[in-house]
Amino acid sequence: MTQSQFDAALDSWRVWQESPWGRLRYATAEFNLRRRLEPLGDGPLRVLDLAGADGGDALRLLRRGHRVTIVDYSPGMLAAARERAGQDGTEARLDTVEADVFDLPGAVTGSRYDAVLCHNLLQYVDDPAPVVRSAVSLVRRGGVVSVMAINRHATPLGLAVRSLDPAAALDALDRRHMHGETFDTELTLHTAEEIVPLLTGAGCTGIEHCGIRSVQDHITDDTRKHDPDFFAALEALELALTDRHPYPHTAKIFQLLARAGD
Ligand SMILES: C[S@@+](CC[C@H](N)C(=O)[O-])C[C@H]1O[C@@H](n2cnc3c(N)ncnc32)[C@H](O)[C@@H]1O
Repeated sequence: MTQSQFDAALDSWRVWQESPWGRLRYATAEFNLRRRLEPLGDGPLRVLDLAGADGGDALRLLRRGHRVTIVDYSPGMLAAARERAGQDGTEARLDTVEADVFDLPGAVTGSRYDAVLCHNLLQYVDDPAPVVRSAVSLVRRGGVVSVMAINRHATPLGLAVRSLDPAAALDALDRRHMHGETFDTELTLHTAEEIVPLLTGAGCTGIEHCGIRSVQDHITDDTRKHDPDFFAALEALELALTDRHPYPHTAKIFQLLARAGD
């Protein structure tokens, strides 16, 4: 996929982000990050958001007073991030760098960050190992790395429960790719079990496996999720389940939080 394809899909991406399921994704990630960042001190912390797009995660960190550098190869996404930060009055703490994560400029690699996010990038790359290694290498010792991706285990469940298609679910059990609607592209699917050894191999410790959208995708009445009371109850449940195993294993998205070593 190219940067212009991401730029072209910016409108449908914004619609997804503002949907109840999009909002749950960002709220749960923020909840998990907050728990891991608080022990690092009051901040402001320096956060690097690899493939941070239009700032869905960054904006929430900026509002908490942190400084964020977003790297993304899509100029449209970066312009949208700056615009959103401007609306919040937090743009002075935001840096945007237009670059490929596989070819980071010295301005990014010359620093070590308190936290590095790599959220929902791995589905666009076939081999996650170089990206995970690069993300960890940019975190200072004792800092936090957060890796998030679509959970391959969730695909058969979704096909059976939402699409009412058990034959397709059976067929998907060993499939490593699916079609992503928002950007109209093929996605590579990973599992937390595959990414944890990459983090460990890069020297990380204290790895926590969290789930995002543990139950929301199994509730097929999407209309109800627009009701504020229903949404608030669903969000409270999702936050309670995010680190409560076994739920993360079948959640739509996995988020791995780890501490960087030497
Ligand atoms: C699904 S979007 C969202 C990412 C964002 N972290 C989030 O979860 O809100 C994926 C983003 O990855 C960016 N991207 C994909 N491959 C990239 C690469 N090799 N280098 C830099 N950015 C990349 C795209 O431009 C797009 O903005």
